[in-house]
Amino acid sequence: FSEPVENGTSPAASTDQSLSGRSVVTLDDLTTAQIQDLLLKASYIDTHRKEVAHTCDGRILATLFYEPSTRTRLSFETAMLRLGGNVIGFAGAQLSSVSKGESIGDTLKTVSNYVDAVAIRHPKEGAALVASQAASVPVINAGDGGHMHPTQTLADLATLKSRFGRITDLTVGLCGDLTFGRTVHSLIETLCRFGNVHFVLVSPDELKTPQYVLDRIDETPSCSYEEVKDLVSVIADLDVLYMTRVQKERFFNEDDYLRLRDTYILDAEKLKLSKPSMAVLHPLPRVNEIAVDVDADPRAAYFEQVRNGMLMRMALESTLVGDTLPGYEDWSNK
Ligand code: CP
Repeated sequence: FSEPVENGTSPAASTDQSLSGRSVVTLDDLTTAQIQDLLLKASYIDTHRKEVAHTCDGRILATLFYEPSTRTRLSFETAMLRLGGNVIGFAGAQLSSVSKGESIGDTLKTVSNYVDAVAIRHPKEGAALVASQAASVPVINAGDGGHMHPTQTLADLATLKSRFGRITDLTVGLCGDLTFGRTVHSLIETLCRFGNVHFVLVSPDELKTPQYVLDRIDETPSCSYEEVKDLVSVIADLDVLYMTRVQKERFFNEDDYLRLRDTYILDAEKLKLSKPSMAVLHPLPRVNEIAVDVDADPRAAYFEQVRNGMLMRMALESTLVGDTLPGYEDWSNK
């Protein structure tokens, strides 16, 4: 996809047809206009649940999860069910013919005969791309190794939009495992497309942001970054604090994981140093990095993020299978 041409075209008119039948492996598969349209659709879905309840009647989504998940798989499935469709799939490749040595390509060629769309999570970077090339139906990347998690980014954007009314002109702190945290990479790259963001990258030396992600910020004139090790010294400057879990499953060495896992713990005491309007995001699951005493604070936005993830997946699934949300076009053109 090239970057969008937004002038003079209503978001609704510009996207449904062009995205129908397409796969979303990275956020580069969506133009900024299409992302904005998905945000608007999620907002419509949230307030028009009855109207959209039969949007995907007769559709079937497959969720092929080769790696553990709670939120992503269940929200993909709930999204299709709430749109009137059905769901098949597996959570754990040991229960499928993958355990007999079947390739991703053959699995996707097979499943394409059964369903209208596939959501896939896999521990290997690039697996979702391979899946999309083999499939004859839209494939959505639900996380491929340490690479990308585009629908988590859509949930993150929806949360920023609902908290601030915008996804630009923000100082965004990202804290923790910035090396292996795929959601961090997706979010930075996408916010750079919208521009006017200052990133404060908080990590130990061993878990710094990869160079290719820093290059993306450097290439964006309206964006900038600083790298720091201490969260407390910068927390007062932040509009958003995006906490991340140290990704145990991506470490080669258990000792390194144990040494680094509790580097940053956000608790109610530290939160007092931040702006009252700051939003704390986390893709979840958390381990120790956000104390439970933060949950009741109005700045905690991570369970809103979960809800927004379902709404954004409803928007994405209906769009990719080519189903129009009843009433949306009139609503969005008002
Ligand atoms: N945020 C996220 O991807 O959560 P799960 O691993 O539970 O799907």
